[in-house]
Amino acid sequence: MNYARIIGTGSYLPEKIITNFDLEKMVDTTDEWIRSRTGIEQRHVAAEGQFTVDLAEQAARRALEAAGKTSADIDLIIVATTTADRVFPSTACLLQQRLDIHGCAAFDVQAVCTGFIYALGVADKFFRTGSSKCALIVGAETLSRILDWNDRNTCVLFGDGAGAVVLEQSNEAGILSSHLHADGAYEKLLYTPYGVSRGLSELLDGAGGIAMKGNEVFKVAVNTLGRIVDETLACNNMDKSDIDWLVPHQANIRIINATAKKLKMSLEHVVVTVNKHGNTSSASVPLALDTAVRDGRIKRGEVLMLEAFGGGFTWGSVLLRY
Ligand code: COA
Repeated sequence: MNYARIIGTGSYLPEKIITNFDLEKMVDTTDEWIRSRTGIEQRHVAAEGQFTVDLAEQAARRALEAAGKTSADIDLIIVATTTADRVFPSTACLLQQRLDIHGCAAFDVQAVCTGFIYALGVADKFFRTGSSKCALIVGAETLSRILDWNDRNTCVLFGDGAGAVVLEQSNEAGILSSHLHADGAYEKLLYTPYGVSRGLSELLDGAGGIAMKGNEVFKVAVNTLGRIVDETLACNNMDKSDIDWLVPHQANIRIINATAKKLKMSLEHVVVTVNKHGNTSSASVPLALDTAVRDGRIKRGEVLMLEAFGGGFTWGSVLLRY
């Protein structure tokens, strides 16, 4: 059996930090409201002239270094992003150029906040069929570029960042299973009113923003993540107690707590970074993973459940032995 095994992780957050107290000066909000409703204390924002590929490159280089691999080893690049630098080439191709990699498959995956889980799930198929031996999987976003910074409902929630993993073919697991889902019927609960085909005038006029029915998104997210946890455990004949670490999408501490409760997991076994960078969409799961790997909490051989939920709606999970 060809398994995809994580052999290195990396992440990057832009230097500039916007705290809740900074936001108090920009919109009608308070640090107390943001922290109590979301758990977020601050978010990072890309500098002028710093783009998604710049963030992706930093995270990718750190993951390669941690894996002890060079660009020459990589035979597949997948970048999960909702905020690509250009309509084309894909951010994955731009990253490929930065890393001086030539010829291997490189493409973007767009599944909003579930993007990294989708990218890992797709990569897993490449490994199981023997099509890839060493892959670079990245989640990178500059969501600050599509936010309406006058809309308190959304601008307090999101931030910029990137995370990456290097996967290597292994006879031992590895990714045990991946579960990818979507239901486009939920479009109107979370979307951007603008787009390439619809026209970008709102975005270009500076009033871009994200349209979101926050409390409805919240309810569907909690229920859906509860279901995906059950589906993932059943598929692997595992019990809740077999999971060592939950590495969830970092959107909201209350959604994370609800999923941990469903798993009967103490919060000591849940990786939480949402306080430090808000919702970084497809970057949030690999950012959390890299944090807990580097600070020594996650150890080799442990079983991790990665899960996410996002616009679309999309949702998914990856169960792996680290
Ligand atoms: N500061 C202060 N008040 C705010 C605010 C802010 N930043 N944003 C919204 N409010 C107000 C609302 O206007 C509303 O006021 P009203 O009652 O006078 O109309 C009030 O707070 C309550 O809004 P509500 O939406 O009911 O709050 P909530 O408890 O559901 O929390 C969210 C709002 C957005 C934090 C929460 O719904 C959430 O996290 N949803 C999921 C969003 C998400 O994760 N999206 C991405 C998914 S990948």
